[in-house]
Formats: sequence, C-alpha cells, structure tokens
Amino acid sequence: MSKKYIGVFDSGIGGMTVVKHLIERLPNENIVFLADTKNMPYGSRTRKQIIEYSLNDLRILNRYDLKALLIACNTADSAARKTLEKQTSVPVLGVIEATARKACSLTENGKIGVIATSATVKSGKYTKALHSLNKDIKVYSLACPELAEMIEAGKTADDLQLMEILENYLNQLKKKQIDTIILGCTHYDVLKEKTEELLPEVHVVSSSVCAIDDLKEVLEKQDLLNDEHDSERICLVTADPEGFKKTAAAILDEIEINLV
Ligand code: DGL
Repeated sequence: MSKKYIGVFDSGIGGMTVVKHLIERLPNENIVFLADTKNMPYGSRTRKQIIEYSLNDLRILNRYDLKALLIACNTADSAARKTLEKQTSVPVLGVIEATARKACSLTENGKIGVIATSATVKSGKYTKALHSLNKDIKVYSLACPELAEMIEAGKTADDLQLMEILENYLNQLKKKQIDTIILGCTHYDVLKEKTEELLPEVHVVSSSVCAIDDLKEVLEKQDLLNDEHDSERICLVTADPEGFKKTAAAILDEIEINLV
C-alpha cells in the first residue's frame, strides 16, 4: 500500500504543539503539517478569508496521499470545517468539539471559561459545542488578540509582557468563578503550565490534545492505523522558514522545516 499521511494544518506554531502530541500518541503515523505563516494570524481575519486560507491549506496538503485531515487550528475549525469536509473524501477532524467534550466532563460547577482568538470567540462555536452537550453550562468567552502573535514570535512563559497580558485575561475569568478553562487556540498550549500555576483550582484543557483520541478512533475504525515503524514527518511553511524554525525548536526539534 502506498504511504498515507495524516494532514495537519494551522496558521503557525500552534499546529506544532498538536503535532508534538500527535507524535507522542501515534508514533507510527506519517504526518504532513502545514503552517500558513504567510497569513498568520487567522484570528483577526474575516470568516471569508479564513475559509479561503483553509481551502488553500488543504490544496497544498493534497499533494500528499492523505488518509485524514486534522484542523489543528480553532479559528479555521470554527470558520471552515464544513467547507473543508465538502472538498475532501478523507475524514476531517476539528479541535473544538473534542475540547468542549473534555471540558464538559471535567466541570463540576458548570462554569467554563474559554480563551481564544477574536474570530473563534466571534463564531460562538465553543458556546454552541458546550451547550449541545449541556445547555445549563455557563460559558465565559474572552478574545485574546495579542497572545497568538506573541507566541508565534517566540515569546514563552519567561516573557514578562506576555505573562502580564495572560494574567490580566485570566483574572477576568477568575472573577466568574470558573472551575474549567479551555485554551481555545492551539498556540496557547505553550501557556498551559503557567495557566495551571495562575489558576491552581481550575482544570486547564488545551485544544492541542483533545482531538487526537478522536483521530485515533476514526483511523482504528477504518483500519488505517500505521503499524510500520518507518514514520515520516514533514513540516511545510508558507513563509519565513528560518523564523519558524527558531520558535518551533522549543516545541519539537526533530522535524525538518521547508518552504512550500
Ligand atoms: N492557532 C490558531 C487557533 O487555534 C490561531 C492563531 C492565529 O490567530 O492565527 O485558533
């Protein structure tokens, strides 16, 4: 059988955090990851633009023989999932539904905070997903427009300015007495530990992890899991491979990065 890949895309480094978890969980899989760094940040774009970029991402990934598509970007999932599903015959998995399910299973007081990009918050997709699981859940969503770009530029939990901004957002949600928070942008996975430190009583759910179990289940059902031990990992970017390499190295350094 010819080599089949799991196609993964995001606007940038957030997708790399998903790929890291994906490799840990499904080490035998061939992965082709595309970071659309040329058009990052998706979170401040219109729905129409996000759909256009996502279709182009799929077009590039389709140069490989895909067996599944994982939208490793909440913003693209919120805007373009349905459109992408119509454009491909392989299973399409997003991050939002799986993350909402996990958060719903953890909350005890029914108050869930969501931090995400402006576009994701505006789409209302987290609220919709959480309410489809339990209509009594109170959802407090907060757009955090600066965070993804700062993380993309290589800032980490060591950066004082980034931490000040994060703390300010988290304090706003703390006042709502949430017991669970969704990091609803895959870039924020790098802030998970810091968020746990700042909100010690709160369950922190990263959108970079939850969809991987769904993906495994889908592949298992279709008997598509790879049992060879020769997995190939490809990382493509649409701009600035050097800049991306520097930031990516802190997340996953075993993958070569090439310009599309
Ligand atoms: N990582 C993307 C997400 O999960 C968004 C970052 C961006 O604004 O491009 O929403």
